[in-house]
Amino acid sequence: MTQLPDAGPAPVAHPPVTLPSARTCPFDPPPEYAELRETCPVAPLALTVGPGDGAGWLVTGLADVRAVLSDRRFSHRNELIALPIPPPFPMTDYDPPPAAPGAFIKMDQPDHSRYRRLLTRRFTMRGVAALTPMITRLTEEYLDALAGADGPVDLVSTFAEPLTVRVMCEMLGVPEPLREPLAGHLAVLSRTHYTVEELIEACTVIAEALQDLVAAKRADPGTDLLGELAADDGLTDEEVVNIAWALLGGGFDTTANMLALGTFALLAHPDQLALLRARPELADNAVEQLLRYLTISHLGASRAALEDVELNGTRIKAGDTVVLALSAANRDPGHFDAPDRLDITAEAQGHVAFGHGEHQCIGQNLARATLRTALPMLFDRFPALHLATRAEEVPLRSDMLHYGVHELLVDTGA
Ligand code: HEM
Repeated sequence: MTQLPDAGPAPVAHPPVTLPSARTCPFDPPPEYAELRETCPVAPLALTVGPGDGAGWLVTGLADVRAVLSDRRFSHRNELIALPIPPPFPMTDYDPPPAAPGAFIKMDQPDHSRYRRLLTRRFTMRGVAALTPMITRLTEEYLDALAGADGPVDLVSTFAEPLTVRVMCEMLGVPEPLREPLAGHLAVLSRTHYTVEELIEACTVIAEALQDLVAAKRADPGTDLLGELAADDGLTDEEVVNIAWALLGGGFDTTANMLALGTFALLAHPDQLALLRARPELADNAVEQLLRYLTISHLGASRAALEDVELNGTRIKAGDTVVLALSAANRDPGHFDAPDRLDITAEAQGHVAFGHGEHQCIGQNLARATLRTALPMLFDRFPALHLATRAEEVPLRSDMLHYGVHELLVDTGA
């Protein structure tokens, strides 16, 4: 990718596309992605609302996606990025504010790394390894409860969600009474649509709960992550609240969706499940393959160009919004062998299920640790686990910011 001298706009051959959303298979991205990656890997994209009047682009090849995500000429600042899908509620003027202090996800350097640096130690492989006994203990607890269930159970509400919420809350130091209200209101913001009233209520409850929590941590920090941040005199309450919000918002339903959708995918691919059961040493690779194959961040990652940039022969202009189709990139046949097949023995290295570059998922080691623990334990505990509905009846989360299943009714066979 090179910066271009001043020149006229390059001719655009392809008509603007809308962000593909209709799936023909629950595990495959919408089919249009494969065609675009083949015929127009940097395609003009119709945007629904501003800010500004920049054009939109949809990038579908793995190398291009990785190039944009590791290039500082593309910004993640909220106030610069337009939306490729309808806004969550009807609005006439879309003018998003800059990120609030501490809300590092939507910041560029140097602000972004100033906050992120405070968190990295806890999220390294070593930091997360210390949590594995807790993840194992909690998984066992939920599996015990499942074993006692009578008839079909919903694995989302009885296993995937409560387990991942508890793991996150233990790590951060969110006390029991706050967990359900926080999870419930963060779930509203995980939808692609909500009313203004729902937005106000969710934000009010989350902000108040986190303000109270930070005040309590300031008084008695303890040893958890939020306590560590609260003990830092260099951070204001507002900053700690917004860091906590970013972590909870990023972590509450992502791992849960991977766990439930990953279970569904393995149940729907009995040969792969049998392989995993026969060869437990494949578990880590199986998790990487599931991350790649399922790519739950189905709306991709968005960036705004800060200057004119040429990407794979296409001129992106300063102010344009670029959407990186992570799910399409993760099926790129130029990088992965047989990318549309779930093969838990195949190489998944280089996938972008957690993004790439400076904003790459900070929680990826935690997500991996949870999935690598919970998936094998679930299948070990219930050798006869099977869907209690037809696969076509499983309700899919196409209407949410992260893809997955709303409900997964299974029979444990216990
Ligand atoms: C399977 C589970 C997960 C998936 C698939 C996932 C996916 C992603 C992706 C694709 C990004 C990059 C977005 C972009 O560049 O625009 C990201 C960033 C992020 N994720 Fe995750 N995530 C997962 C779990 C978690 C967990 C458990 C946490 C909790 C700590 C978390 C917190 C974050 C945060 C805070 C960011 C922003 C990082 C930054 O801007 O520096 N995620 N995640």
